[in-house]
Amino acid sequence: MTTLTLTLPNLHPAQRKIVNGALRFNVLACGRRFGKDVLGQDVLMDAAIGGDPVGWFAPTYRMLIDNMRDITRMCRDITANVSKVEHRIELITGGVIDFWSLDVADVARGRHYARVVINEAAMVRNLLDSWTRVIRPTLADLSGDAWFLSTPRGYNDFHALYAMADERPQEWRSWRFPTSDNPHIPPKEIEAMRAEMDAVSYAQEILAEFRSITGLVYQDFSDDNLTDAEPDMTLPFELGCDDGYIDPRVFLLIQRTPTGILIFDEIAQTKRLDEETIRDLLEMCARYSKHDLPEGWPTMTNMARSAWAHSVGVKLPELAVCGTESVQLMRRFREANIPARGGTHLILEGIKVMRQLILDGNGVRALKVNRRCKTLVSELVNGYRFPDGGRRDNEKPEDLNNHAADAARMWCWMRSGRR
Ligand SMILES: Nc1ncnc2c1ncn2[C@@H]1O[C@H](COP(=O)(O)OP(=O)(O)OP(=O)(O)O)[C@@H](O)[C@H]1O
Ligand SMILES: [Mg+2]
Repeated sequence: MTTLTLTLPNLHPAQRKIVNGALRFNVLACGRRFGKDVLGQDVLMDAAIGGDPVGWFAPTYRMLIDNMRDITRMCRDITANVSKVEHRIELITGGVIDFWSLDVADVARGRHYARVVINEAAMVRNLLDSWTRVIRPTLADLSGDAWFLSTPRGYNDFHALYAMADERPQEWRSWRFPTSDNPHIPPKEIEAMRAEMDAVSYAQEILAEFRSITGLVYQDFSDDNLTDAEPDMTLPFELGCDDGYIDPRVFLLIQRTPTGILIFDEIAQTKRLDEETIRDLLEMCARYSKHDLPEGWPTMTNMARSAWAHSVGVKLPELAVCGTESVQLMRRFREANIPARGGTHLILEGIKVMRQLILDGNGVRALKVNRRCKTLVSELVNGYRFPDGGRRDNEKPEDLNNHAADAARMWCWMRSGRR
């Protein structure tokens, strides 16, 4: 008889603790890079090598393929047959491994398993429904067990399963471990992630905490970001702009301070020509520099108004940051002697930069907004949301109530130096 060896990684102490304490239904809420895949593959292989049929479930096909590849490679020496079409591996031990993505209907119908692993369970849409209608029935014949592995994502269905341990402690068990319990991840990497993430993301992704997700894009923005501080008019300031006509056109007046960024005033107008908004801006600048407007102001061009401002020492913005599509607005700024620059970026990337400035993993709020910026504050604390309270990290927010928030994001992405 030939002996085949299969090399599986030695579980680290936290993984071992989980395996040793497992019940029939196991829910693991762990930080990113904790070793969920390694653990899931280990328990799955354990049953398959013993000759049992097992199933691996992922939220989407894309999330399935890496694990499918890893597991295929892992059991190469004990494989009898691989069906790429059916996503199935048959082992010489009699064990069978099926792979399913839960974003298609009717998966796993007619199958029975001794063990299933549901990876990244918190990302499965309608997880409870998939569990009760699709996955749970496959465990009936063999009294199979189940492993839900995930990083938390607010109080969604995954949390409901996590809470089952309280309701039915004979069958269900839950664990929560932060990333730092994986000894293979250097602590300095975790420190680096802490500095790069906003506070809610750090708590959720690294500490594996369930955090309520309000659906607000900038959920950490709070009173502590508000200020009555005024700009230092001896120092330069800039503009963040979001153009509009039916939707509001917003200009934010922004200054770098020794400790961060101060948004100290705003202009938010609808149905107003761009040169009129720029005129209003020039008037606002005159007020900040404590100058009365000269005679003939109403009939002057913006070019002449700006020339007057320069001649009397009224400070104008050093730069206006706009979306690249705002070609005409940028031309109007230049006519008024205000340099303008267009920028584009991925919205989700820009949101990350803003969130970090609002509150970073170390508890620092670099972004301060003067209370008089009513439009911006109202969007940040109330209006600007993900669709139906949706997810934080990979879905675009609604294109609604985001005008001032977008002007801020545009500037922060281009000029804050945080990326
Ligand atoms: N027991 C172990 N022995 C050796 N390395 C391990 C072990 N567990 C995890 N690792 C390593 O830690 C890293 C993260 O593991 P894994 O991909 O399983 O984590 P994860 O929690 O699934 O991560 P993600 O949150 O990105 O999905 C990998 O480099 C993996 O090789
Ligand atoms: Mg993983």
